[in-house]
Amino acid sequence: MDRITFHHDTVLSDVHMLRPNARHLMTRLNSVGQPVFISKFKILSVGERPDDKDPEKGVPEAGVGHEPKKEDEKVSQSQDGEDGGEVGGEPFLDEDGDFHITHRPRTNLPERNSRDLVCPIILQQADPELEPEEEHSEDEDDQAFDDIIKIEHTMATTLEDVGKQVWRGAFLLADFILSSPDMFRGATVLELGAGTGLTSIVMATICKTTFCTDVGADLLSMCKKNVTLNRHLMEAAGGDVRVRQLDWLQHDLCTDADVEFSWTEEEVEDMYNTTEIIIAADVIYDDELTDGLFRTLYRLGSSFSHRCSVFISIEKRMNFTLRHMDVSCDAYNHFSRCLSQLEALQDGRCSFTVQQLPTHFSQFLLYDRTEQLELWKVTSTPTPPERTPPPESACGSSLNAEPPTPHVPIHRSC
Ligand SMILES: C[S@@+](CC[C@H](N)C(=O)[O-])C[C@H]1O[C@@H](n2cnc3c(N)ncnc32)[C@H](O)[C@@H]1O
Repeated sequence: MDRITFHHDTVLSDVHMLRPNARHLMTRLNSVGQPVFISKFKILSVGERPDDKDPEKGVPEAGVGHEPKKEDEKVSQSQDGEDGGEVGGEPFLDEDGDFHITHRPRTNLPERNSRDLVCPIILQQADPELEPEEEHSEDEDDQAFDDIIKIEHTMATTLEDVGKQVWRGAFLLADFILSSPDMFRGATVLELGAGTGLTSIVMATICKTTFCTDVGADLLSMCKKNVTLNRHLMEAAGGDVRVRQLDWLQHDLCTDADVEFSWTEEEVEDMYNTTEIIIAADVIYDDELTDGLFRTLYRLGSSFSHRCSVFISIEKRMNFTLRHMDVSCDAYNHFSRCLSQLEALQDGRCSFTVQQLPTHFSQFLLYDRTEQLELWKVTSTPTPPERTPPPESACGSSLNAEPPTPHVPIHRSC
């Protein structure tokens, strides 16, 4: 394989697309034959963050410690017309009424013309047997810095595999966590739809235990590998990350010891008894999955005997649709309906409140924090026991509490 093919049905995250100067180092093929890349994301210190900088200098779009390189300088010079190019000559109409524009001489675009064809070299072919475990070499490039998060990911996946890329919502949530460490210190946290695991890794630099969950053995293997790659970042806080399967479309947590990424009975109990924070980044893009996610949130909230805060980051992806004859985001509209229904739910077990949070907290990672990125907080509060007896068992391997009132069919109508 010497070329990456981008199929029309694939999607590519802006995080990977808008990193013009970062080296996309393809390391190997994973066990299902997909090219695996490694990216390094720097946690910025005070003075390096975009919000610390002079606003007139602008915020770099994305990338790792994006320092302008030669190509950038040339591009910006070219755009300004300071490279001697004949830019900005007044367009004029000739005698036939044709519109003439003076183009910049082609000699001023050497990079574009001479750019090499990208032919990724496969450095290492994964051994499917070894893949989930460490097969990581400590060469010079692999040094463990305490401000660099290294993430293995794929690029341009189908919708089914979007979790193998890093999405901007993961960065927004990571920024929120790093901006409010006291909120998470010592906590047990459950991440839903964790993908590559970046947000769980950031969370584990602060909290005690993170259950980092998603679906699919190959995705979870990649996620587990990322946790291993970044173990040194979590050591200071003693943070423990358990990568486990939690499928929003299933009622049960798998506790079969022979199944990879299954839960132990102790973990299930620990998760139900101590999880006070749930996080989920960029998980709203398909209405059926959104319904499954909200069912899961309902089941968890109504099984907990304590209050739980859920933080959901979302990116509104606006599209023009003929149906609306306007730009809209159907997935976001569906999400809003689900939030309203959850808040209106009165089942005697627990209640939910919903709040949109401001997103002007500090930016620790470099990405374009657009206004389409939003952060929502849902709080579940159990109904006091004197009014309703608690469920028979607050813990167990089953996520199967259902909304008891048939006229609040959250799983169907939201
Ligand atoms: C757009 S990705 C976001 C990944 C990661 N949170 C991030 O922001 O980089 C959506 C995630 O939802 C997960 N997901 C989809 N369906 C799911 C399901 N039924 N149960 C659990 N997770 C699911 C996907 O596997 C994927 O990791």
